Amino acid sequence: MAARHFLTLNDLSSDELESLVDHGTKLRNDWRQGVVRETLKNRVLAMIFEKSSTRTRVSFEAGMTQLGGAALFLSPRDTQLGRGEPIEDSAIVISSMVDAVMIRTFSHDTVDAFAAASRVPVINALTDDFHPCQLLADMQTYREHRGSIRGGTVAWVGDGNNMCQSYINAATQFGFNLRVACPEGYEPDSELLKTHQDRVSVVHDPAEAARGADLLVTDVWASMGQEDEQKARQRVFQNYQINPSLMKLADKDALFMHCLPAHRGEEISADMMEHPRSVVWDEAENRLHAQKALLEFLILNRLD
Ligand code: CP
Ligand code: NVA
Repeated sequence: MAARHFLTLNDLSSDELESLVDHGTKLRNDWRQGVVRETLKNRVLAMIFEKSSTRTRVSFEAGMTQLGGAALFLSPRDTQLGRGEPIEDSAIVISSMVDAVMIRTFSHDTVDAFAAASRVPVINALTDDFHPCQLLADMQTYREHRGSIRGGTVAWVGDGNNMCQSYINAATQFGFNLRVACPEGYEPDSELLKTHQDRVSVVHDPAEAARGADLLVTDVWASMGQEDEQKARQRVFQNYQINPSLMKLADKDALFMHCLPAHRGEEISADMMEHPRSVVWDEAENRLHAQKALLEFLILNRLD
């Protein structure tokens, strides 16, 4: 049987995603009660990081260890990937020795190429275009605090980046309406928008996006790889901030999320992380539980 991959949210059906999110909550509850679970005993995850990470690295590595397996941290600085060994050759070799591979890289084509040559499941741990693992944690977090998001409204405020584009896929898969508020010229990919036009609209005024929404989400103004644009983006994005005044326009029970790391004083005001309806710390912790569910699903094909 060909390996299942998780390169975008579209690699799983809507039902599978919902079950995965449920399973993540079960794993969280069990873990908090000290239940020992060794479903991935002797299994190995290779983790290729071509960009920095705190949450993704710690959650995958801790998750594999907690499930009885192990994780290998591979950076291009110390592997032949950094010296130009073709991605397909690396995929054939690495996937002949491990049970799953996780990749964080720049071009989305790199994860596509790796997956095409891999014998084992490949997980996209962030590319310039998508960050699907973060959406599993975000959807799990929303459900744990407020129940299903199906039929609700999410406001994205800021750059039409990899996180925004994963929210676009999530809108269709999890059945919510998404309003993206971004500066002109920083919209998400137009083809992606066209595919999801039933669920997604783009505006340029954060207040218009936030009004009545059930969830407000943002991310950094300059993503990894855009360091040279940081100054210019600070000017363009200065009105695209989530703060308590914007939260007041949303539904009274609306939650606030941010994938982190956050820049206080830029995309969020200094007090937003501690706002009464901020769930950013649960969201970060849920990376661990959601990805343990994902690893079990991809490696063992189990969701219980
Ligand atoms: N949110 C997220 O992916 O964080 P890291 O860059 O720290 O992994
Ligand atoms: N959009 C950000 C997300 C970091 C988790 C980036 O790509 O740097």
